[in-house]
Amino acid sequence: MLQLALIFGGRSAEHEISLASARFVAAMLDREKCDVIPVGIARDGRWLQPTDLEAALRDGLDATPAQAAHLVVDPAGPGLQLADGSFQPLDFAFPIMHGTFAEDGTIQGLLEMAGLAYAGSGVVGSAVGMDKELMKDVFAARGLPQVEYLVLRDAAARGAAAVAAVEQRLPYPVFVKPVNLGSSVGMTKAHDHAELGAALELAASYDRKVIVEASSPGREIECAVLGNEDARASVAGEVIPANEYYDYEAKYTEGMMSFVIPADIGAGKQAEVGELAVAAFAALDCSGFARCDFFLEDDGRVLVNEINTIPGMTAMSGFPRLWAATGVDGRALVDEIVQLGLRRQAARGSVRTDH
Ligand SMILES: Nc1ncnc2c1ncn2[C@@H]1O[C@H](COP(=O)(O)OP(=O)(O)O)[C@@H](O)[C@H]1O
Ligand SMILES: [Mg+2]
Repeated sequence: MLQLALIFGGRSAEHEISLASARFVAAMLDREKCDVIPVGIARDGRWLQPTDLEAALRDGLDATPAQAAHLVVDPAGPGLQLADGSFQPLDFAFPIMHGTFAEDGTIQGLLEMAGLAYAGSGVVGSAVGMDKELMKDVFAARGLPQVEYLVLRDAAARGAAAVAAVEQRLPYPVFVKPVNLGSSVGMTKAHDHAELGAALELAASYDRKVIVEASSPGREIECAVLGNEDARASVAGEVIPANEYYDYEAKYTEGMMSFVIPADIGAGKQAEVGELAVAAFAALDCSGFARCDFFLEDDGRVLVNEINTIPGMTAMSGFPRLWAATGVDGRALVDEIVQLGLRRQAARGSVRTDH
């Protein structure tokens, strides 16, 4: 039996979403192949083993009895040292958390040091995918089509000089975002000069780097990717938010968006989106799984918006629904993600580390 740590919660603003995603993954994991070891990361960063996984995912970590669990970073025998004195060996980790300290290469680095195989992208893909500036620069270097953008950092991201720098480069409306956040947090669509100043101020309060993008009037298309070097794309879907754009409320309130799968864009555009999704995945050296988001403009151009290396995986999330529509149900999906993580670890073992 594979001793699999399902790691959920986390220190980011998306702690709650992680619980919902973990609920889906826990339900889909094949209990005949793996023992699921629950590991919750509290909002303050403590690692805990709840006594009851279902209760922790339903009621939250704070409301569920748990003991402290320390990851033992020992490639010869990775596992968890538990407060009751016992040691739980581990073979695999499935971090299903979003945002900072979760999707950004930090926990992936920790798992590498511990010698554990794990689900999803490695350190580089995760870190670059989380940083909207680096992500867009790498996409640009690979010739992937995107909206115009500029990045302002530190003092240059605030005040009249920042507003002037943006106005010199981009027409209104513009999207102003903290470089390192997700779930539309700290983001504003600024329609004019007055809104831009406040938008920059807000984004700069979340991050030292602020990205400002030309607004695409296009339709929002999402496509899921699965694989390692041999990655393949799902059918593409279209997100139709009830709000002006896909903001936090639209993302996480039931009924605030509709998802059309497959997107009604014709076979040619379906194929183009799939190819771009795999190209974006490969550009960042991603592995396992990801969801790639696009804008389809009126003139037919498909622009890459972003990649999410740990996309939402609740039952209503795009990622599992896109795969279901492609013929890969939840169980097969989660099983393949685990297999891909194991295969990557095995491939790594055959690479020389001496010199
Ligand atoms: N340049 C843009 N043009 C048009 N809409 C945008 C643009 N950037 C963001 N949006 C809207 O805001 C949403 C969230 O932005 P996104 O860059 O995906 O950030 P997050 O990482 O928070 O999901 C998008 O799904 C889209 O609805
Ligand atoms: Mg997004």
